[in-house]
Amino acid sequence: MACSRTLLLLLVSTVFAARLSASEATVGDEEGKVVYVVYLGHLPSSTDASDPEGLSAAVESAHHDLLNLVLDDGSSALDRILRSYKRSLNGFAARLTEQEAQKLSSMDGVVSVFPSKTHAPLTTRSWDFLGLPQTPKEELPLEGEVIIGMLDTGLWPDSPSFSDEGFGPPPSRWKGICQQNFTCNNKVIGARSYDEGSTPLDDVGHGSHTASTVAGRAVANVSFYGLAAGTARGAVPGARLAIYKVCVGEGCSDHDILAGFDDAIADGVDVISFSIGSFLPWPYFEDAQAIGSFHAMRRGVLTSASAGNSGTSAVGKVCNVAPWMLSVAASTIDRRFVDSIVLGNGETIVGASINTFPTITNATLAFPADGSCDPDNLGGGLYRGKIVLCPPQHGAPNDGSGPLLAGAAGVVLVSRAPDVAFTLAPLPALAVTQDQFDQIMAYVNSTSNPVGTIAPTETTTDPLAPIPASFSSPGPNLITPEILKPDLSAPGVDIIASWSPLSPPSGNPNDTRKALYNIISGTSMACPHVSGAAAYVKSFHLDWSPAMIMSALITTATPMNTPGNSGTTALKYGAGQLSPLKAHDPGLVYDARESDYVAMLCAQGYNATQLARITGSINATACPNNGSAAAAGSPGDLNYPTMAARVDAGKNFTVIFPRTVTNVGAATGVYDLRIVVPIEAVNDLAVEVSPSRLEFSWQQQQLSFNVTVSGVAPAEGGVHAAAIVWFNDQHEVRSPVVVYSATPQ
Ligand SMILES: *[C@@H]1O[C@H](CO)[C@@H](O)[C@H](O)[C@H]1NC(C)=O
Ligand SMILES: *[C@@H]1O[C@H](CO)[C@@H](O)[C@H](O)[C@H]1NC(C)=O
Ligand SMILES: *[C@@H]1O[C@H](CO)[C@@H](O)[C@H](O)[C@H]1NC(C)=O
Ligand SMILES: *[C@@H]1O[C@H](CO)[C@@H](O)[C@H](O)[C@H]1NC(C)=O
Ligand SMILES: *[C@@H]1O[C@H](CO)[C@@H](O)[C@H](O)[C@H]1NC(C)=O
Ligand SMILES: *[C@@H]1O[C@H](CO)[C@@H](O)[C@H](O)[C@H]1NC(C)=O
Ligand SMILES: *[C@@H]1O[C@H](CO)[C@@H](O)[C@H](O)[C@H]1NC(C)=O
Ligand SMILES: *[C@@H]1O[C@H](CO)[C@@H](O)[C@H](O)[C@H]1NC(C)=O
Ligand SMILES: *[C@@H]1O[C@H](CO)[C@@H](O)[C@H](O)[C@H]1NC(C)=O
Ligand SMILES: *[C@@H]1O[C@H](CO)[C@@H](O)[C@H](O)[C@H]1NC(C)=O
Repeated sequence: MACSRTLLLLLVSTVFAARLSASEATVGDEEGKVVYVVYLGHLPSSTDASDPEGLSAAVESAHHDLLNLVLDDGSSALDRILRSYKRSLNGFAARLTEQEAQKLSSMDGVVSVFPSKTHAPLTTRSWDFLGLPQTPKEELPLEGEVIIGMLDTGLWPDSPSFSDEGFGPPPSRWKGICQQNFTCNNKVIGARSYDEGSTPLDDVGHGSHTASTVAGRAVANVSFYGLAAGTARGAVPGARLAIYKVCVGEGCSDHDILAGFDDAIADGVDVISFSIGSFLPWPYFEDAQAIGSFHAMRRGVLTSASAGNSGTSAVGKVCNVAPWMLSVAASTIDRRFVDSIVLGNGETIVGASINTFPTITNATLAFPADGSCDPDNLGGGLYRGKIVLCPPQHGAPNDGSGPLLAGAAGVVLVSRAPDVAFTLAPLPALAVTQDQFDQIMAYVNSTSNPVGTIAPTETTTDPLAPIPASFSSPGPNLITPEILKPDLSAPGVDIIASWSPLSPPSGNPNDTRKALYNIISGTSMACPHVSGAAAYVKSFHLDWSPAMIMSALITTATPMNTPGNSGTTALKYGAGQLSPLKAHDPGLVYDARESDYVAMLCAQGYNATQLARITGSINATACPNNGSAAAAGSPGDLNYPTMAARVDAGKNFTVIFPRTVTNVGAATGVYDLRIVVPIEAVNDLAVEVSPSRLEFSWQQQQLSFNVTVSGVAPAEGGVHAAAIVWFNDQHEVRSPVVVYSATPQ
């Protein structure tokens, strides 16, 4: 299966190896036809609002007419169209040849035509760590007004996390459905699946995990075979969930993702949680999630997405970078899972893994003949009862499946993300760094009877937390360099949450364990923390725009521990760690509406005629100044809660960011300004803000200021990071200011 969009769940081997190599594959068939998404922008406005079904039928028929214009092989649109998008946005997906796709892309009314890429899918101590208390009973009804749409692998509804005990009926505006063979309740109020003949049931585990992190009920005494015992809960246990299964197995195609957005928006969700992404970002209108989240934003729905898991690669970069959606990085929490091997010479090597098997004592250590742990190479019973040492092969970590088949007692392997405790093949398994592996090898080479003891995993506290996860995809933003991405960070390492018993907890098909809760890692796990916090903020402020909620989450985030290199780390985690309690009362917000994003796209040089099609503007051009980028300012002028600039290495620069804040605190309030420039940057960076005091006299009042950033650009690849903070007795409204020198792509 092709895999450029992935679930952003981290597996010890697959994500890093197999998926990356297939990163641009598309969905095709044997006749050279490929599934393309044909994006047509906004829906025609209905003259008769009382007849939505008539409108839908008209839109669908227009799709067929348009497609029939380019088919000249005797086939009809009916044979080729897979999906019509007609509820929230306009477009369709069809099997096309390259020539047909090209013809379509030059036709009037077409915004973009792009191959449907397949994205592979990439407790709860984390909420305590973030300082969000359990929701008091009296606030649960408030949360009950909020509906979160999960675009993911489905849901395992029988988990106690999704019980609807004590819930009233869904909000009356809800228009969703529950597809056959799936039982909804007043907690899980809708479920759709996009693979013909399949149900929204989760057979991967990923979707149940993310959904319970957002909105799972508090369930006591949860653990993974005794590990991480405690209460599992989501951010908003009183909120409703709507399930859109846009992935088949671990592949999530653009054409299904767009269908999920089309439905979720029209059904009436308030927040969309999207733990799917890619190795690199895509231009906005060739990307299902950027298109879908744009139409969501137009209807007041915020999309929160994962930043990607390509951080340990030299070339991978943050994905889901559109400024109308949140891109969430992953960081650690204060709980770590460690496992160790005690060698026969008394040395102890501490690694990480989720190993809940009994201790194996003084088993023989064996290094396979040519260093390969492939099943073929471990035959003949030679490795039965031994601890097999598996180095990476062709740059890919081993996953322990070979030693499992060989009847080994245990396995030691090399992980590329040593900060993550993986649930490995079902046997005592330990993941170590390459250096630690070499240390074990040196011992093995030094004796004729090498032995080792592996005890089950233990829990320790990590005083350094939170720090960015090694795998979390770093900035800069390759699509709009003037918008800082990722936006912020949330727990994404070793998170326990709901699971599906249809899926082995280690991902190994020969793992017969059935778990209702599992411990996994990835920016997939970070995203639902922010989706949940967004729903939490929304439950207090139902009328806030997506940008206001984004701003509240970003400006209240806490900068992270970054001994020695604050600059590059700001490109890795954005504004810092999510702080949900503070986000519900941010004081000031940076708001933006559709026209602001359109102005940004114009400034970036997006085609004005096409933007007019996307927005439904009656003008032939959506851009001020007729789309002339020179006259239309910089994309950095967007009223975004962070400020970023890409500058030329070593040269002097001056960048001005115009900004406007809206008072959402008390009617009268005065804010003073603090400018934070780290000591290592003071000689190279000057930040000025004018005016430097804001005096508000009413709620919703807006005041503007300019942030002028100047200095000497860092060397290529270098970063200057500073911050401006508007503050008074009650609030701190912090915006990172990040200047970086162009990195070769
Ligand atoms: C739904 O369940 C029925 C009866 O168990 C079965 O015949 C049918 O194939 C199922 N449909 C889907 C889409 O799984
Ligand atoms: C949780 O487990 C403990 C010990 O196993 C038990 O004493 C307690 O009653 C359990 N609590 C619940 C709510 O099941
Ligand atoms: C394991 O081997 C070490 C060193 O050979 C020895 O000290 C230790 O007692 C052994 N442990 C057990 C439980 O046999
Ligand atoms: C699972 O086990 C079967 C034999 O029992 C083997 O053929 C297959 O390769 C195993 N799968 C994996 C992924 O290890
Ligand atoms: C140990 O021996 C193996 C060959 O058996 C060799 O490939 C490896 O480099 C040696 N490692 C160390 C650390 O001595
Ligand atoms: C914008 O797109 C339209 C067709 O959609 C095309 O005719 C026009 O030339 C494009 N403009 C620019 C500046 O590329
Ligand atoms: C159309 O363009 C004109 C001139 O640029 C502008 O004044 C007007 O507000 C635009 N109308 C809409 C609906 O965008
Ligand atoms: C806007 O630009 C397009 C081409 O980019 C041109 O055809 C059109 O005449 C311009 N309109 C105005 C009002 O300048
Ligand atoms: C750059 O700025 C520094 C002061 O920050 C100044 O000394 C230097 O002359 C400037 N260089 C150029 C080329 O303007
Ligand atoms: C910001 O600077 C622009 C010129 O770059 C100026 O027109 C505008 O008035 C300034 N805004 C504020 C609030 O000072």
